[in-house]
Amino acid sequence: MLNKISVVGAGNVGATAAQRLAEKQLARTVVLVDVIEGVPQGKALDQWESAPIERFDTRVVGANDYGPAAGSEIVVVTAGIARKPGMSRDDLVRTNADIVKQVSLQIKQFCPQAIVVVVSNPLDVMCWVTMHVTGFPRERVIGMAGVLDTARYRAFLAEALDVSVEDIQAMVLGGHGDTMVPLVSYTTVSGIPVSQLLDKAKLDKIVERTRNGGAEIVGYLKTGSAYYAPSAAVVQMVEAIVRDKKRILPCAVWLQGEYGLSGMYCGVPAKLGRKGLEQILEVELTAQERAALQTSAEAVKQTMAAVKL
Ligand code: NAI
Ligand code: 2OP
Repeated sequence: MLNKISVVGAGNVGATAAQRLAEKQLARTVVLVDVIEGVPQGKALDQWESAPIERFDTRVVGANDYGPAAGSEIVVVTAGIARKPGMSRDDLVRTNADIVKQVSLQIKQFCPQAIVVVVSNPLDVMCWVTMHVTGFPRERVIGMAGVLDTARYRAFLAEALDVSVEDIQAMVLGGHGDTMVPLVSYTTVSGIPVSQLLDKAKLDKIVERTRNGGAEIVGYLKTGSAYYAPSAAVVQMVEAIVRDKKRILPCAVWLQGEYGLSGMYCGVPAKLGRKGLEQILEVELTAQERAALQTSAEAVKQTMAAVKL
């Protein structure tokens, strides 16, 4: 258990993540920070009042400043505005870049040793903004997207095959956008290649649904975007770090030549442990997957070009 984990942004993803962190008792204190007066305090108090029922001793506190967050070992960044119907993740870039810059300056000042897990969209670009403004090494600025995209892919596959989600092993790489790259060649059902169990047409449909997974939820909710699966995904990453689990998860990391890409964040298989990003795994890809990863990386670079640092 850590001493303190902070979650910046007490909206749908941030508040749900705080509750999950507390229920798993990953830190003695979870601090929820937001600019809206009363919201982080009210949500934190409400969560703390669930502690006797859910049986956790983690204190959840809310604040509008970073004083209570000082010294956090991990900071999860969910501050920003969420996607509205018809809005692409990239439409969010300028507004969220300004918000993430402000947040990053505070993290640098109040939590200089923290590992930062970024959630705000457009994800890969917000990770870059965070790393640039905090000046933290790449080991300590990691983005959440691949775990969520992979969870969606696994859920759709489990449904199509009528098997347990636990038996689907898969990875979705690339930027967090419509160009993400579900790796069909590495998708197995208890070790059996998925291509032996589902025909190409069905697999193609699932890959397409995965790519549109965020938009599908926005289409239903209309006034916001997904948060149950995103909060579960970020907490899985935080748990891997807190418990030094050395889990191999698809994470957005700063690339320095891996997969032929550099000077950008993109989703690749990464080892997460107590030091944060502990290793990037370079796996063999089919020519088609490599080309798709390249296309996805180009989409991230285009969005980066919209941000002035
Ligand atoms: P939300 O609108 O419910 O919450 C965002 C919160 O950020 C609001 O409470 C707002 O007051 C706060 N905020 C704004 N400026 C702030 C600042 N300067 N400092 C602190 N807090 C500030 O949105 P939701 O649904 O929680 O999503 C949050 C972000 O996460 C969005 O950018 C969304 O697109 C992104 N997201 C990313 C996912 C991923 O896979 N990487 C998945 C789901 C959401
Ligand atoms: C999602 O994939 C909006 O990025 C968010 O649900």
